[in-house]
Amino acid sequence: MADPTTPSTSVTCSALSFQWPDGTTVFDGLSLSIPRGRTGLVGGNGTGKSTLLRLLAGRLHPSHGSVTVGGDLAYLPQNITLDTTLRVDQALGIAERRTALRAIEAGDVGEQNFETIGDDWDVEERALATLGTLGLGDVELDRTVGQMSGGETVLLRLAALLLERPDVLLLDEPTNNLDLFARRRLYEAVDSWRSGVLLVVSHDHDLLERVDRIAELRSGSVSWYGGGWSAYDEALATQQEAAGRMLKAAEADVRRQKRELEETQIKIARRQRHSKKMDAQRRAPRIVAGERKRSAQESADKLRGLQEDRLNEARERREEVADAIHNDAEIRVDLPHTAVPAGRTVLTLHDLRLQHGKLHQGDLHVHGPERIALVGRNGAGKTTLLRTLTGELPPLSGEAKTFVPLRFLPQRLDVLDDELSVAANVARMAPGVTDNHIRAQLARFLFKGARAEQPAGTLSGGERFRAALAATMLAAPAPQLLMLDEPTNNLDMAAVRQLTSALDSYQGALIIAGHDLSFLESAGITRWLLLAEELRETTAEEVRDLLASEAG
Ligand SMILES: Nc1ncnc2c1ncn2[C@@H]1O[C@H](COP(=O)(O)OP(=O)(O)OP(=O)(O)O)[C@@H](O)[C@H]1O
Ligand SMILES: [Mg+2]
Repeated sequence: MADPTTPSTSVTCSALSFQWPDGTTVFDGLSLSIPRGRTGLVGGNGTGKSTLLRLLAGRLHPSHGSVTVGGDLAYLPQNITLDTTLRVDQALGIAERRTALRAIEAGDVGEQNFETIGDDWDVEERALATLGTLGLGDVELDRTVGQMSGGETVLLRLAALLLERPDVLLLDEPTNNLDLFARRRLYEAVDSWRSGVLLVVSHDHDLLERVDRIAELRSGSVSWYGGGWSAYDEALATQQEAAGRMLKAAEADVRRQKRELEETQIKIARRQRHSKKMDAQRRAPRIVAGERKRSAQESADKLRGLQEDRLNEARERREEVADAIHNDAEIRVDLPHTAVPAGRTVLTLHDLRLQHGKLHQGDLHVHGPERIALVGRNGAGKTTLLRTLTGELPPLSGEAKTFVPLRFLPQRLDVLDDELSVAANVARMAPGVTDNHIRAQLARFLFKGARAEQPAGTLSGGERFRAALAATMLAAPAPQLLMLDEPTNNLDMAAVRQLTSALDSYQGALIIAGHDLSFLESAGITRWLLLAEELRETTAEEVRDLLASEAG
């Protein structure tokens, strides 16, 4: 149980090494001590944040070194899925204690009932209180999980963890798939963390603003920054600026050393020509000339060697400095076949009523490469609308018709076959396209060489998104209507920029469901649709006001 006076509450890794079975090294001698309080763990997609949490939680075992955790640990994995048939009290892990309580209330004084309960007589009250603080006050303990939205199941898992009153709490990207309302609740839970170690992996700036310090994972080592996101961001900017200056200086040094090496070589050549001429004029005996030549050659070699060493050193320094610069590779693809003529009808709706009752009265037409944002709260039915457009779900009444090849990238990214490699996944969706072409295109989606061979099931969250995006965008026939469901939930800033650049190359019609306004704006949205009580046209301004009021 959490006790603020326990000094042993800490998490330490010493000389931790970890390799995947395929030989890729994630950590090689990482030492790390995580103090009490709130720590945010950040780093690019695929740097090993989830792997580190799994090592700390004991779900993975280091190949060398050790992990020490003082106290009870609770762990919320990235992208959890809950068994939908569970009852809420089962999901909370309190079903047995409840049953025992009921039995005792009914007069059953069996020993094992008391054993089950221990001293946790108020477990129900605590459960309801915890649910209440997470905004799940309306959820009854006897309901099943299947009736809850994706965001609610994340909060429910969190409630289960908090109920255990852990000393160490590890959260891996907890705000993914949460709407703004649910996010608020999670922020409050983070704010009210009082004792022990809270380590949270996140790309969410508002969440990271609330931590005491930030640990940045990069190339297998961790750097620490005091304060929340803005302090980190500022420190990083200063650091990057300094690194930029150092890189310039190091590059200038490389150029100078190169020039000096060239000059040395010219000088040596000139000297050699000169002494040859002199020897010829002096008619020096061959043996003397030979001796002189040899020693001249020696000192020339020495000089050249020295100069070459200096150049190599300068190059090494340049590499070192360049390493400190955060370079975000961009996705740059050509997708000529995705183009749709401006006059072409892409999609029409007519008096559409969706499965759960939401309605669009009258006609709605989409023409040419329009870029549509579909906004609305979690549970408003955005996904239902998209699935109706793909034809997966029949409408209750009315009509939805599409007239071009379309592809849908679902929120759960379940377009990938986990057993198949990234390349094989793309090939599966692009029949008739040559392997060479697929590999060339995948390289542009930043899966180069052996990376394209990695089984999809082992990709990190961010990599998985990139693979699913590649499979969707490279599909044959080329999609001329592309629908993305909450695409940025899982992504760090660099990955969001990658997505934006990939969408820049896409020339067809686009529908993006989501509430990440800054991303939507950078994706060049031309038309906004709001799904609330009914589906209607709206404006960027209205959406902004709406999101602000929702978050408040
Ligand atoms: N079973 C596996 N075999 C080989 N490589 C793996 C396996 N599982 C994960 N990886 C690789 O290990 C690296 C680290 O993955 P991890 O999930 O820890 O990243 P992450 O920092 O959490 O990324 P994200 O921000 O995208 O969630 C990734 O490059 C991933 O592809
Ligand atoms: Mg991760």
